[in-house]
Amino acid sequence: MSTTATEARRALEPNEFRDIIGRFASGVTVITTLDSGERKGTTASAFTSLSLEPPMVLVCLNSASSTGRAIAAARRFAVNILAEGQASEAMKFAGRDPDKFAGVAVVEGEHGEPLLADALATLECSVTEVVTGGTHYVFMGEVERAAARGGAPLAYFRGKFGRLELAQDEQAFADIRAHVLSREIEIGEPLDLDELGRRFGCLRSPVYHALSRLTGEGFVTRNADGAFVVRPLTLQAVQEAWRARCAIETGVAALSVGRVPESTVTELRALADAAAPAPAASFKLDSWLPAYNAFHERVVELGGSASLLDAYRRVNAPAAILSVTQRQMELQGLDREQCVTAFGHMCDLVDAYERGDRAVAAEAIRRHEEFASEVAVRFMDSQGGEI
Ligand SMILES: Cc1cc2nc3c(=O)[nH]c(=O)nc-3n(C[C@H](O)[C@H](O)[C@H](O)COP(=O)(O)O)c2cc1C
Repeated sequence: MSTTATEARRALEPNEFRDIIGRFASGVTVITTLDSGERKGTTASAFTSLSLEPPMVLVCLNSASSTGRAIAAARRFAVNILAEGQASEAMKFAGRDPDKFAGVAVVEGEHGEPLLADALATLECSVTEVVTGGTHYVFMGEVERAAARGGAPLAYFRGKFGRLELAQDEQAFADIRAHVLSREIEIGEPLDLDELGRRFGCLRSPVYHALSRLTGEGFVTRNADGAFVVRPLTLQAVQEAWRARCAIETGVAALSVGRVPESTVTELRALADAAAPAPAASFKLDSWLPAYNAFHERVVELGGSASLLDAYRRVNAPAAILSVTQRQMELQGLDREQCVTAFGHMCDLVDAYERGDRAVAAEAIRRHEEFASEVAVRFMDSQGGEI
């Protein structure tokens, strides 16, 4: 090991160590026990499974922890693995409140240890061995009884509570979004989270998060009873979204036309070419749309601001209308013709970048907005004003 690394090791201060070790993400538990019949509990993240046969776990508690001292005497403890909504319990059991259990729903384990009723999982353990490491007791316990329920865990990372973003969340979001946009669900009808979970093979919490994200996108809202309901897309909302998009693109063009290198213009040209509609026989709106979006988002990226791009994505009117209406549009056979016009606007914009002409760029963006807005009015009218 180099001298510098050795010195760095020797010089490690408690705060530095906390900062470094805090990068190891963990779940959060509340460890409980009985101290001569009195309930004790502490929040602990230094918990891990140790062996499968026999089933064993390990927990590290500071020797100054009253729960730790009680476990050393009682030689029993219970582990409550907290669920994602239980950050307040984690804070409560990390504090010095003399009655940490007040207001917390608890059931008794077989040997009387308090088990948190809303925990994601509970394990009742008997201590098989205790060793001391630095300031901490290391309790090894054999698991005698255990129970678990569905749900997501509370996560802890760099001193903050959070939730684990599972790949399942993204899948659930994509599935539920497509379902909502397909208009298979009646507008205004309360959504049943459990039923959606069953349908898409996921737990309730990814469904909840998917619906919250869709609320942010404006496709779903809450009714007076607090239930999630599908929201109609109104002509006004669509036109506002187009205006917002146009304003963002115009601003970006004012900042970037004439200031981007030739390689960027070439890149824009290639992106526009990729959005040239295929011949009518093989044209598919759903394969054209990503190319259209990729071009426009690349233009907005030239503004050099991630939050602007984020705002642009959120007011993605064409994606919204086309996702909702794609099927109807295809049925009406209107799709390709409009895409050819939109492609023409993209080419005009690339030409403006090539010539460094801001006025031409602004004009291409304005013409596209005007055209798209007209298409939206015609289409929404034919659908009774909202979809
Ligand atoms: C997220 C989090 C994780 C913690 N993990 C541990 C741990 O693993 N071991 C420990 O001894 N203390 C841990 N603590 C600190 C104890 O919860 C805290 O010192 C508590 O006041 C001890 O309570 P007691 O004396 O009633 O047992 C943690 C605190 C928080 C907020």
